[in-house]
Amino acid sequence: YEVSMDFWINGRAVSVDIDLRTSLLDLLRDQLSLIGAKKGCNQGACGACTVLADGERINACLALAVQYQGREIVTVEGLADSHGRMHPLQAAFVEHDGFQCGYCTPGQLCSAVGMAAELARGVPSQVTGDVAAEGIALSRDELRERMSGNLCRCGAHNGIVAAIAETFAE
Ligand code: FES
Repeated sequence: YEVSMDFWINGRAVSVDIDLRTSLLDLLRDQLSLIGAKKGCNQGACGACTVLADGERINACLALAVQYQGREIVTVEGLADSHGRMHPLQAAFVEHDGFQCGYCTPGQLCSAVGMAAELARGVPSQVTGDVAAEGIALSRDELRERMSGNLCRCGAHNGIVAAIAETFAE
């Protein structure tokens, strides 16, 4: 069953006909050619599909697109500024070799941006229950825990953590 819906993606209004069963990830990748968000597990376990919805990180593979009508979606393609300059976190990933094959990178980037917003809002750790102290300062262990929904199979975690820490946590 197809319906016409309006979305707000990376600062642009988008109207599209979608099947009600379409996931947000499939809408982005297959219908809008925004292929930054990746399909890894397609069941909420790897984080490769992470995007931002009203600033909150979500697994787009688990989200029905229809639920996000009118919400502000940001994908990795939307992280650079309007002049095409990389987001500071993207630059830090380059500097710290925060990737190898790059498959998890879009999800890592969006997840970290969402994590920083959670810290700023005082969202406590799901493991320790702790709220990050002043501002968004947090330990490397806490950072790893908060980013634990995003897997890297290459072994670039140390660079990823270093890049995120430099941008948001130090
Ligand atoms: Fe969505 Fe793995 S593809 S969490």
